Amino acid sequence: MKNIVAIYPGSFDPVTNGHLDLIARGAEIFDLLVVAILRNPEKNPLFTLSERTAMLKELTARWDNVRIDVFEGLLVDYARKVHAQVLLRGIRAISDYEYELQMALMNRKLYPQMETVFMMPAEAYSYVSSRLVKEIAELGGSVRGLVPELVEQRLHSKVNGG
Ligand code: PNS
Repeated sequence: MKNIVAIYPGSFDPVTNGHLDLIARGAEIFDLLVVAILRNPEKNPLFTLSERTAMLKELTARWDNVRIDVFEGLLVDYARKVHAQVLLRGIRAISDYEYELQMALMNRKLYPQMETVFMMPAEAYSYVSSRLVKEIAELGGSVRGLVPELVEQRLHSKVNGG
């Protein structure tokens, strides 16, 4: 039996129900799924790395084979380090495809031993993105059903200065 390690990288600022849906699907298929949060000094995230890590840890505690980690630099270098054979990415709509294809082919060029696997989240989440969720929350709209309750609460206190 192969022991397949998959990484699911992203900013997760914040984690949405779409991300969680993909994590659930990945956890079903792979032996180990490492959710890898990018430490990106150029971006100005709403949630700190430790806040994002804490939320993801809490929300994925039900899966024994899901781990949360932080990485910086090239994804392929991190993938080598954790011996990942699979890179998991979600595709919501055709508009995601071009960027994802380019990244997948570039990552393959840099690290041919790793395979990118695309999964589709449930249709209900096909329009959900962290960027829109943040924008809606910052402008006082409701994000109920788009993010887990825990994230909804933390978003609320964040934008209300809590
Ligand atoms: O879901 P996101 O936030 O769009 O994730 C983007 C991510 C983290 C997968 C991408 O930015 C990435 O891999 N960054 C690490 C730097 C890197 O390896 N760049 C070359 C990609 S081909």
